Amino acid sequence: MLKVGLVGLGFMGSSHLGIYKRLMDEGFPIKLVAICDVDESKKTGALTKGNIDVSDKSIDFSQFNFYTDMEEMIEQEELDYVDLCLPTFIHAPYAVKAMEKGLHVFCEKPMAISTEACQEMIDARNKYDRFLMIGQTLRFFPSYQYIKETYDQKRYGKLNEVALFRGGTTPLWSWDNWLLDRERSGGCLLDQHIHDVDTINWILGTPQSVTTQGKVYYEGSGYDLVSTNYLFDDVVVNAQDNWTINNDDFGFEMRFRFSFDEGTIILENGKLVDYPNNEKSFTPDIDPENGYYLEIKHFAQSIIDEVDPQSAAPLESTMETIRIAEAEVKSADEKRPIEL
Ligand SMILES: NC(=O)c1ccc[n+]([C@@H]2O[C@H](COP(=O)([O-])OP(=O)(O)OC[C@H]3O[C@@H](n4cnc5c(N)ncnc54)[C@H](O)[C@@H]3O)[C@@H](O)[C@H]2O)c1
Repeated sequence: MLKVGLVGLGFMGSSHLGIYKRLMDEGFPIKLVAICDVDESKKTGALTKGNIDVSDKSIDFSQFNFYTDMEEMIEQEELDYVDLCLPTFIHAPYAVKAMEKGLHVFCEKPMAISTEACQEMIDARNKYDRFLMIGQTLRFFPSYQYIKETYDQKRYGKLNEVALFRGGTTPLWSWDNWLLDRERSGGCLLDQHIHDVDTINWILGTPQSVTTQGKVYYEGSGYDLVSTNYLFDDVVVNAQDNWTINNDDFGFEMRFRFSFDEGTIILENGKLVDYPNNEKSFTPDIDPENGYYLEIKHFAQSIIDEVDPQSAAPLESTMETIRIAEAEVKSADEKRPIEL
């Protein structure tokens, strides 16, 4: 039976909590034994509601031991791994500390606040020989895997265009408002747009250069609106994000359009549609499961099987995503293309 400690019970931690409850209900050999959060009110189950509601509120909190300090939790409990749902600026120090204490680590995206911090995590992973995986969740989403397979297997021939968008209401829920602090979150660009940067990196690799326009909408925040053109040979690639669409009817949305020689695949309004050239469009028959559940199950199963979980999201690759995002920040700051 795997024993897990969840660190950070904010918006994402609440969603992970729901996933552990589901895994336990399903009889998966895992037990969430402890929760750690600096905010004591979390002890009673005061869950954070963000822009997507994925938490399960019917949870009995008395079954978990509660801590406000991760090191104390690690000392008191016999854990196999910690699941870090912490503000980005402390991903690296907390991941390194947990590995130093002998635990495996699942850490939410983005990997860390800088490439230097990512390197510290990789060095610690090598030094302490623990499993470390970053929750770049789109790599586990069936709709994104459908695109990756279409591209890798050349089902529709050559890829010509990638257009990505995500955005919605401003994340005003965060602890100490860290998400709107450039130094602690990197803004929308590093926190939310990073999903699309990772998708581009995962499917196409590193672009030759990036040209980014960004706008800081909230004083002190990172770029809250962003549009980036990625230079690749022969593919037109653009990704946009805007977390200032403050209308609950819009909420949150992720969209994509991948256009190939022989067909186009579009995700819009939560619907995935495949448009083969000159044939009837269709809804692909894909796994309806969401990537959050699949990635955590994959990580836990990897520990049980003693197989490195990195195949889906190698650390060098998730760090490269941060390097591309840093180039985007530099491009927006200096108003010029940045080569990679
Ligand atoms: N995969 C996704 O789609 C997705 C979506 C949202 C957020 N995230 C990521 O999840 C992480 C957390 O984001 P969030 O929106 O849940 O933020 P949040 O502010 O809602 O939650 C952070 C929690 O950590 C706690 N915390 C802060 N410092 C701590 C410490 N030193 N020790 C223990 N607890 C501490 C806070 O009290 C809070 O409950 C971020 O890295 C974010 O990018 C991922």
